[in-house]
Amino acid sequence: MARPRVLSGIQPTADSFHLGNYLGAVRQWVTLQETHDAFYCVVDLHAITVPTEPDALRRRSRVAAAQLFAAGLDPERSTIFVQSHVREHSELAWILNCLTGMGEAARMTQFKDKSAKFGESAASVGLFTYPILQAADILLYQANRVPVGADQKQHLELTRDLGGRFNHRYGETFTLPEPYILKEVEKITDLQEPTAKMSKSSSSPAGILDVLEQPGPLRKKVMRAVTDTGSEVLFDEENKPGISNLLRIQSALTGTSIPDLVARYEGQGYGTFKKDVAEAVVEAFSPIRERTEKLLSDEKELDRMLAIGAERASAVARETMAQVRDRVGFLPTL
Ligand code: TRP
Repeated sequence: MARPRVLSGIQPTADSFHLGNYLGAVRQWVTLQETHDAFYCVVDLHAITVPTEPDALRRRSRVAAAQLFAAGLDPERSTIFVQSHVREHSELAWILNCLTGMGEAARMTQFKDKSAKFGESAASVGLFTYPILQAADILLYQANRVPVGADQKQHLELTRDLGGRFNHRYGETFTLPEPYILKEVEKITDLQEPTAKMSKSSSSPAGILDVLEQPGPLRKKVMRAVTDTGSEVLFDEENKPGISNLLRIQSALTGTSIPDLVARYEGQGYGTFKKDVAEAVVEAFSPIRERTEKLLSDEKELDRMLAIGAERASAVARETMAQVRDRVGFLPTL
């Protein structure tokens, strides 16, 4: 039996992944490559749905790819590629656009949130159709599972709806993917505002731990993380959201359960605990940062690795699109 296929994507919108990306996505992608035929893509077409400087996009796409390799994705086993290298993403997205109702697209809550920042009429049409491009990413590869955070559930529903609609109208073509919702326990919040998600777009620099950050600043940020009144290290999301977040981080990075950590720090106060959390973060990030720096120091080699990924991805995408074109009624090119 062939291994089930997973596909996921991450946007190249920052100069580093942060702890939330790492625990909530990248690290779990690494585990999934053991049991799945894995396709992971740096979604640069998605990145330009909001205004983006070309040089920043180039830099961030390479940084994102390098971090994926550095975090343990193995180019021999997994297909790591850049979305824009595979032209079929845009092509399928167009066809799916033509199968999507205006009202159906308008119900997507992520668009509502993101466009609120620009004012709805200033937001691009690309931002509006973002979930349809995402559906194309997934359907092109006939993915069985799509590992994403809970915030992406609605986009996966749309993907299944569009795939099912195409199959119904034009004949069985697409595999309908199952969501594979990544573990909630690893939901990491802002160090300065521990009830809000750690996020590139809304966290202040002091609230976010970047994978590529140096040990000094990482330690400082953990030590300055907002903690709660009282002095006991207890897991209590409601009354101790700051300490609870640090416990989740420590547990996720060390593999020690939260109850075991709570027992370990009994009677010790916040200081010792925070020092240990800081060390766990530095220990997890330093090797990834060093490997990323090494990969980025040889752009030619990195681009070559991405070309191999693009070739492998293209082989699958071309096959799907040949069928799609024919079913839709486009003339063959001779
Ligand atoms: N929208 C996803 C996010 O913001 C990124 C993404 C783009 C994606 N294409 C995808 C995720 C395809 C899974 C599959 O996290």
